[in-house]
Amino acid sequence: MQIPAPFLPPPRLLMGPGPSNVAPSVLQAMSRPLVGHLDPAFVKMMEEIKVMLRAVFQTQNEMTFPVSGTGSAGMEFCFVNLIEPGDEVIVGLNGVFGTRMADVAERCGANVIKVEAPWGRIIEPGQIAEALKKSRPKLVAVVHAETSTGALTPVEEISRLAHEAGALFVLDAVTSLAGCPVKIDEWNVDAVYSGTQKCLSCPPGLSPVSLSSRALEVARQRKKKVQSWYLDVNLLASYWGQERVYHHTAPITMNYAIHEALRLTLLEGLEQRWQRHLANHLALKDGLAAMGLSLGAQEGHQLWQLNAVKVPEGADEAVVRKRLLTEFNIEVGAGLGPLKGKIWRVGLMGETSTRENVKSFLNALGQIL
Ligand SMILES: Cc1ncc(COP(=O)(O)O)c(C=O)c1O
Repeated sequence: MQIPAPFLPPPRLLMGPGPSNVAPSVLQAMSRPLVGHLDPAFVKMMEEIKVMLRAVFQTQNEMTFPVSGTGSAGMEFCFVNLIEPGDEVIVGLNGVFGTRMADVAERCGANVIKVEAPWGRIIEPGQIAEALKKSRPKLVAVVHAETSTGALTPVEEISRLAHEAGALFVLDAVTSLAGCPVKIDEWNVDAVYSGTQKCLSCPPGLSPVSLSSRALEVARQRKKKVQSWYLDVNLLASYWGQERVYHHTAPITMNYAIHEALRLTLLEGLEQRWQRHLANHLALKDGLAAMGLSLGAQEGHQLWQLNAVKVPEGADEAVVRKRLLTEFNIEVGAGLGPLKGKIWRVGLMGETSTRENVKSFLNALGQIL
């Protein structure tokens, strides 16, 4: 075989549903030499990651750390640890990721009660209240920021309803974390997972998770072993806790990356970072309106970091998306499921969320249309 030349990626502006563009200092951190994953220097850095993650999640939960794997691994981590076969669970479905949660829960042997809303709309607390009248679930799970539709479901009330019914509350914060308020303790969230490649602006590869002491107790008191050895919190706790018992070889470079990305997030300040995401979302929305375009997600609940732009009459969604990439080096996402061909998913996440990028996108889209 002829050995290929080294891969040199084209310079892309990543304005899709993730990954987002990564800060130069995060890329620099990833190019530093390896140390062993049980090296005291690495262990000290792991402690700093945990402390910074707690600040970003706004939680005191001891069990807060990055699972090795992408956001879906964090999703599986929450469900495999909390569910035992035959458990009843309520899952909100209003897009791809709620659907995925239900699938994962079913694979854990749960009896899943699906609370559905049309794609682009939020899960209403009233819907959860209705479902709770007819069941005694072990947990209620919803997606905070539905990346497939651009809708942000408010979760405080849903969390309250879940707890009143004696259930745990599980939250997908893959796209919301660091791009809009996520307040794990204030909202009484028992299990949350996120991803690195969205508003934290780190490459994909880790899934920050946090479990409340109540959730941890459920995992500790299980009748059956967690069916996933890799994601068993009872084993992972010995690695990420004080004992430092070898469990798996942590992806060292990815941990360098999240350490730097968390530093940048906290140096900016969470409030400031949320405000930046809001301001650039509004600038995009205004610019689109001036071109006669609008967003597809429910008014009043539109994500700041992921904008579902409605494809105008007469435009070919795929052709426009391809021209954005090939002529302007701008990546945007396609619609999925029922929204296929109907929306472009325009991400303004983390490093990508700047006024210059909003202008570049509007300018490119205007030229193509
Ligand atoms: C809301 C949400 N949940 C879960 C995931 C799954 O994360 P990953 O693709 O990193 O496995 C994604 C990915 O886009 C997401 O947007």
